[in-house]
Amino acid sequence: MAGTIDPWSSQDIDDYERLIQEFGMEDFDARGLEDAPPVMRRGYVVGQRGFDYIRRAIQKGEKYAMLTGLMPSGRAHFGHKMVIDEILYYQRMGGDVFVAVADIESYATRNVPPKKAYQIAVEEYIKTYIALGLKPEGCQIYLQSKREEVKDLAYLLGKKVNWSTMRSIYGFTEETNMAHVFSPLVQVGDILHVQLEKFGGPRPTIVPVGLDQDPHIRFTRDVAAASRIYSIQRTGEGFGIFLKGEWMDEKAAKMLAKAKEVMKGKGYKDFETNIPYGALYVKDGYEDLNNLLHSLAPIEIEEGGFGFFPPSATYHRFMKGITGGKMSSSREESAIFLSDNVDISLGKMNKAFTGGRTTAAEQREQGGDPDICTVYEMMRNHLVEDDKELESIKNSCLGGAILCGECKSIAKERLREFLEEFQAKKAAISPEQVDQYLAKDTLD
Ligand code: TRP
Ligand code: SF4
Repeated sequence: MAGTIDPWSSQDIDDYERLIQEFGMEDFDARGLEDAPPVMRRGYVVGQRGFDYIRRAIQKGEKYAMLTGLMPSGRAHFGHKMVIDEILYYQRMGGDVFVAVADIESYATRNVPPKKAYQIAVEEYIKTYIALGLKPEGCQIYLQSKREEVKDLAYLLGKKVNWSTMRSIYGFTEETNMAHVFSPLVQVGDILHVQLEKFGGPRPTIVPVGLDQDPHIRFTRDVAAASRIYSIQRTGEGFGIFLKGEWMDEKAAKMLAKAKEVMKGKGYKDFETNIPYGALYVKDGYEDLNNLLHSLAPIEIEEGGFGFFPPSATYHRFMKGITGGKMSSSREESAIFLSDNVDISLGKMNKAFTGGRTTAAEQREQGGDPDICTVYEMMRNHLVEDDKELESIKNSCLGGAILCGECKSIAKERLREFLEEFQAKKAAISPEQVDQYLAKDTLD
């Protein structure tokens, strides 16, 4: 399917690099991110938009938020654990953590009844997050259907979008049900509501997701920009601040004067105002345009606007299923589930697709191919934390020093240890403990 990504299909993506180029995402690198988890530092997070704002916030200890969403359908597997590892990282790095349970979306697009969604969310996902180490402090997990601010924003921001845009981004047709049509706006509400004053105000927000979610991210960034009262552009030696059309009325002069005060406060001196144009030109220099626009957020909020900072995102690849293809809970045999019986999981790994050769002699001679090996992928993303150890496994594979049977035994031992510890922790989680993570609106 050239030219589009369908965020609701569970199709595999075969050419990440091409998609990243085609859609104008940037490459991700973990430069300057100490203590980043394997998925971030070993190339599994492949792309990003606006990540430098988050990197800076982490390095300088500034405020930022992290929001992601989970689909309460199916069962949690190692593909899901990748995002969880990212969430845990942002929590360690001081981000305010928000997790949306996408019960509106799962009802609209997968027909999961809301009660069922709640039950799946708690048993399969929230308990998994907790067992993997999520802390209740500074964290709130909420249901889309219970958070008024999310639904209100979805509705209000819907004003900035027309049907032809929705159709061209998402490929909606005459038959698409209206709840499905509306669900991207609910996701916009999820992502942007954390910047309402009640939830911490305008600030950089990171949204870690699978690459298939990029249409939602682009859409949200466009809607956030469209909701601003001002826009900003480089002009000549400086920049221009422009009022959006609906503000070009008797208020224009006042709004431009307010913007000028803010820019004076930042040390700019050389201004030219053009009221009929709705423009304030600042001629003596410039700095990061999003940060400049951010300094105008308080005046927008005074006027009833939102002042949203453009949300950032990182994109991870899909984990390969152990039978090859994408790991997906709709194909049992492809996935190692976090809460499955340990022996079943070890049995699956026994049968996993590897990069081994047809005969032992051939493998000793030519070595294996870790790049296509799903056992190696499990070790790289989840089972081997130490970089040197991983390197040595890779070299043994490439050099033919180790054969797949032996290598699988190492991986299976790790998997057993991991699952036993994880499952014991998960089983011990009480309902009261779950409640500590749930937001007040969701509990009521
Ligand atoms: N659409 C996401 C999925 O299919 C779930 C989701 C809902 C989400 N709201 C979100 C993801 C906000 C990121 C941010 O998995
Ligand atoms: Fe995969 Fe290990 Fe076999 Fe190499 S030796 S192909 S890493 S299972």
